[in-house]
Amino acid sequence: MADRTIALVYFSATNVTHSYAEAVQKKLIAQGCAVQVSNVTALESRRKPLWFADCDGVIFGFPVFSNFAPRVINEWLPTLDGRGKKCAAFFTYGGRTAAYAPFHTSLLLEKADFRLMLAAEFPGRHSFNVGGWRILPDRPDAEDFSVAGEFAALAMERFSRSDAPPLTLQKPFGYPQVVAELENAPKPTKRLWINPVRMEKECSLCRTCETECPAGAFDADTGLSDPLTCIGCMHCVYICPDKVVQAPDIIPEQAFLSNWHVTKEMIEAKKARIIAESWQAAY
Ligand SMILES: Cc1cc2nc3c(=O)[nH]c(=O)nc-3n(C[C@H](O)[C@H](O)[C@H](O)COP(=O)(O)O)c2cc1C
Repeated sequence: MADRTIALVYFSATNVTHSYAEAVQKKLIAQGCAVQVSNVTALESRRKPLWFADCDGVIFGFPVFSNFAPRVINEWLPTLDGRGKKCAAFFTYGGRTAAYAPFHTSLLLEKADFRLMLAAEFPGRHSFNVGGWRILPDRPDAEDFSVAGEFAALAMERFSRSDAPPLTLQKPFGYPQVVAELENAPKPTKRLWINPVRMEKECSLCRTCETECPAGAFDADTGLSDPLTCIGCMHCVYICPDKVVQAPDIIPEQAFLSNWHVTKEMIEAKKARIIAESWQAAY
């Protein structure tokens, strides 16, 4: 019987975070841990209570959407009951930047009474590849997964050592202003380029787009996502068995790259990175 139990909780819309979570799980099992996995991507899954009392630590995994963890996760995290448990968090990003996600999430974890011991940033296939982009199409690769394994082993060590200090992340420059702007931003009233839509009539009406939507935003009858609630995560596009849900208005890849002053070479040079010490949290 395993002498330690780790909870692994993750959100994944297009399978990148899921594949990193699998690498983390594999390493934990190889080291003799029992792993209690919760995939909290679907809205329904976040309505069920999570119980961490029997775990020695919790590892969270989230993608980065517009510089933060997904909005629906940020709303949900503070509702958890961490009871002072140690945790680690990894963030997958499409090669631009994980930006404010680690710091912002660390504050939410603190609110939920978790103690963050370790963090990591893992690059992966950009979600908008489902709309035709080719950004990091072959990531994560073997090297990325190997760093994920190191992250899992280090998390386990920090969960079991009583003298391990918690990780304090530096507040990124401009963070308070960005958060204030987001809070005061006008609500979208019309469809945005990130809102998927059903494009063709040959739909088997399985309703997966509706039941699996992480934000409860997709209406299988109209074939439209609600711009107010849709988080543009591309989960409906990724999972549609008939391949009729698509994101036709997605910004062209080249426009995205020039908007952010990045090149494919810059993105491809990104490496999976463990943030083990406070001073490594560079922004
Ligand atoms: C709405 C949206 C916003 C995104 N914003 C960022 C970003 O700010 N920086 C970045 O590098 N990648 C960004 N990405 C890419 C994802 O972070 C990346 O592809 C992630 O690994 C997807 O994980 P998943 O498949 O587990 O959902 C964004 C993706 C989406 C859908």
